[in-house]
Amino acid sequence: MSPRALRLAIPKGRLLDQTIAYLVKAGVCTTAQLDPGRRLVMDVPGSEARLGLPLQLLLLKTVDVPTYVAHGVADAGVCGTDVLDEGDAHVLRPYTFPFGGCRLAVAARTDAADVDLARAPMVRIATKYVRTTRALASSRGWNAEIVQLSGSVELGAALGLSDVIVDLVETGGTLKANGLRVLQFVGETEVKLLAAPALAGARRRAAAKLVAALQQTKEDRNDG
Ligand code: PRP
Repeated sequence: MSPRALRLAIPKGRLLDQTIAYLVKAGVCTTAQLDPGRRLVMDVPGSEARLGLPLQLLLLKTVDVPTYVAHGVADAGVCGTDVLDEGDAHVLRPYTFPFGGCRLAVAARTDAADVDLARAPMVRIATKYVRTTRALASSRGWNAEIVQLSGSVELGAALGLSDVIVDLVETGGTLKANGLRVLQFVGETEVKLLAAPALAGARRRAAAKLVAALQQTKEDRNDG
């Protein structure tokens, strides 16, 4: 029986288009092969030439990518460190993508007075990143009450659910459009290729070829 395809879990959200474009650039698939429609599994015929195995893409919510990889259901995955840092998934991180990096910021309403979080008696912070925010509060001496949200975090501060938010900022467009401004930047995130620790045999070799193809692509970009 031939080994199953190399399964790569990719996030359906903000990173999807950039991830696909980068896989195409790396020669791992072509856009003609990709027509997801509403399907959550995409077979990529013809990728054997590059990887030694066919490639299968799993389209997941970003937060679930580490879980699939840690359990070996996906052999590899694409995920930001913002999400990885919130969990304990046992995964390898053999490659950093040259896109998708963001800054983590504390932001407040544009019309709110400046607040020094280390001096404020209490600050209510809305965020998706509870563990990261708790660690920041502890290391920086913020007396924080953390309100967990799962998306549209800007609304938390805009509507008064919280005093500030801790959230990713890429272009700053979402903050601006919702009447918020950065008070301070508190971290940076990167997008990683994850690999399952227990990979073996043909899929281990295919994953190594995938990493090599991605690395080659990064070098080509640097040369340009
Ligand atoms: C992220 C982040 C900000 C936005 C920042 O949200 O939480 O809301 O992107 O990007 P910008 O600085 O380029 O505007 P995401 O798109 O992941 O959606 P979410 O509301 O589900 O968190």
